[in-house]
Formats: sequence, C-alpha cells, structure tokens
Amino acid sequence: MVIKKTKQPKKIKQIAVYGKGGIGKSTTTSNISAALSDMGFKVMQFGCDPKADSTNTLRDGEYIPTILELLKENGRVQAKQAIFEGYNGIYCVEAGGPSPGVGCAGRGIITAVQLLKQQNIFEELELDYVIYDVLGDVVCGGFAVPIREGIAQHVFTVTSSDFMAIYAANNLFRGIQKYSNSGGALLGGIIANSVSSGYQKAIIDDFAAKTKTKVLQYVPRSITVTQSELAGKTTVEAQPDSQQAKIYRELAKSISEHEQSTTPSPLEALELRQWAAQWSDQILAIEKGEVRSAGAQI
Ligand SMILES: Nc1ncnc2c1ncn2[C@@H]1O[C@H](COP(=O)(O)OP(=O)(O)O)[C@@H](O)[C@H]1O
Ligand SMILES: [Mg+2]
Repeated sequence: MVIKKTKQPKKIKQIAVYGKGGIGKSTTTSNISAALSDMGFKVMQFGCDPKADSTNTLRDGEYIPTILELLKENGRVQAKQAIFEGYNGIYCVEAGGPSPGVGCAGRGIITAVQLLKQQNIFEELELDYVIYDVLGDVVCGGFAVPIREGIAQHVFTVTSSDFMAIYAANNLFRGIQKYSNSGGALLGGIIANSVSSGYQKAIIDDFAAKTKTKVLQYVPRSITVTQSELAGKTTVEAQPDSQQAKIYRELAKSISEHEQSTTPSPLEALELRQWAAQWSDQILAIEKGEVRSAGAQI
C-alpha cells in the first residue's frame, strides 16, 4: 500500500455522517473522502451501516468483506485484514451487521471500532480523517456509539426536505443533546442533499433555524451522481470537472476548516408536527397560486 505524505501532521479528526437510510449518506461521504484525499489528507472511510455498501464507489463498485464477516469466518481478525485500499489510497472499512432479524444491528459498529482501537490502527496509519458513515434512523445503543463514546468529535447530518428525513435528523439531534454533557460529539452542521428547488431549500433552512443549527452545503440532485455511481465511482473521481464535483469539493473544504460544533436544539414531537403542518399549508397555498414567495417557489 502506498504511504502518502501527510499534508499537515495533526490530531486525527473523527467525523460521523448520520441520516435516514437512502438519503445519500454513503454517496456524500465517499465524495467527501475522495475530495479530502485529493487535498492531500490521509482518510479512512468507516462504513457503519449493516448494508455494508458505504465504500464501494471508492473501489470501482467492488464490495469488501465486513469486520463481522471476517470475525465469523476466522474467530479473530487482524485489523489490517479488514482494511482495503480505495481511490487515491483511501482506507476503506465496513463494520457490517448481524443477519437480518438477529441481534442488534449496532453491534457491528461496537465490535469494529474496538478492534481498530485496540490495535492502534488510526495512529499507525497516521490518519488525518476517519469518517464514519452511520445509519441514523434509529439512534439505538450501537448506532449511537460514535457520538456517545467520544469517538467522533463532529457529527454532520445528511437530510433532504422530505419530512421523514427531517424527522430522522431531529431524532439524531436528540441523541446528540442527550450525550453532549458527558463528552459526546456535537453537531457540525446539516448537509442538505437533493435540493433542487427554492421551497426545498426554504424548508431545510427553516428547520435549521428552529433547531439552532446551520446548513453547511446545499447539494443538488444530479444525474452526474447517478452516472458516476453506475460506473462504480464517486463523482469526484468520475467527473472531476463537473459542477457537482465542485460542490463536493467545497463541502470537503468546509469540513476541513470546521472547528466549532454545537449542541442542537431538537424540536419536541408536537412542535415538529406543527412545524410540518405549517409547511404543508404553505405549499398548498403556493400550488393554488394564493401565495407567491420568491424563496418558496415550487
Ligand atoms: N445528490 C444526488 N443526486 C443524485 N442521486 C443521489 C444524490 N445523493 C444520493 N443519490 C442516490 O441515492 C441513492 C441512495 O444513496 P446512498 O448514498 O446509498 O444513501 P444512504 O447511504 O443514505 O443509504 C443512490 O443510488 C445515490 O446515487
Ligand atoms: Mg449508505
């Protein structure tokens, strides 16, 4: 494996990306990893979704065995057996999960993180960044590990303007708030994905304002992402000159410059319901032509 020169030797920055299933976590995370790596940083992408498909666009569409699979096969695992090289020397790891319906899906994360920590892998590889790509629908014991145990310092959430994605983000904010007094990770910001119209942006901006958080980047829905994924690659790798790749690079730069994370103020269940109902009324009014708002065109 090629050992790359570290741009600026410093403490490892550990980041967790959370969000609802299917919202674009792995796509966004892999593009961030690719862009950070292009900037000269040494990056590990740590897939923490039982689907174990976080890193495949960093590896030409190829899946890697998970730490739990390797443990099941061999009884014990040398961390290096579970680390695979991806685009530009990015270290790829997949925690994996139990068979569907059996055991806690978060167990893979606990086991995998412990394994790499025990073997001092992060220090040995002189990493600049470890990015955990975590399924955040349920902040159950296992999925909360990167937030709870002082593993990640900064959490970013990927959400679209769809209510269920915002609902998941709000639940994540609750988890962060809960552990914030005991040294847990704080929120770095929201990554607004699939934002293609004014009203989608307005909904996410309003949610950010209500929860005292901020949007780090707006990422449009783009066919270049689809095309790159079909080729088994990130957009940063497959279409580096595209507008979409430029947006992912801007996002990676913001993350590399990010220092101060904060405790979000999640909405209570009823508040969130009322907030959603207000937006429903507003969109209906715009559709009927009763209201015209520059920021909220459909
Ligand atoms: N900005 C985008 N533009 C187009 N397609 C996207 C975008 N973000 C995500 N997708 C697509 O959505 C699907 C789900 O994304 P994925 O990153 O696997 O979600 P998650 O990891 O949150 O489950 C993928 O097929 C991906 O290509
Ligand atoms: Mg994923």
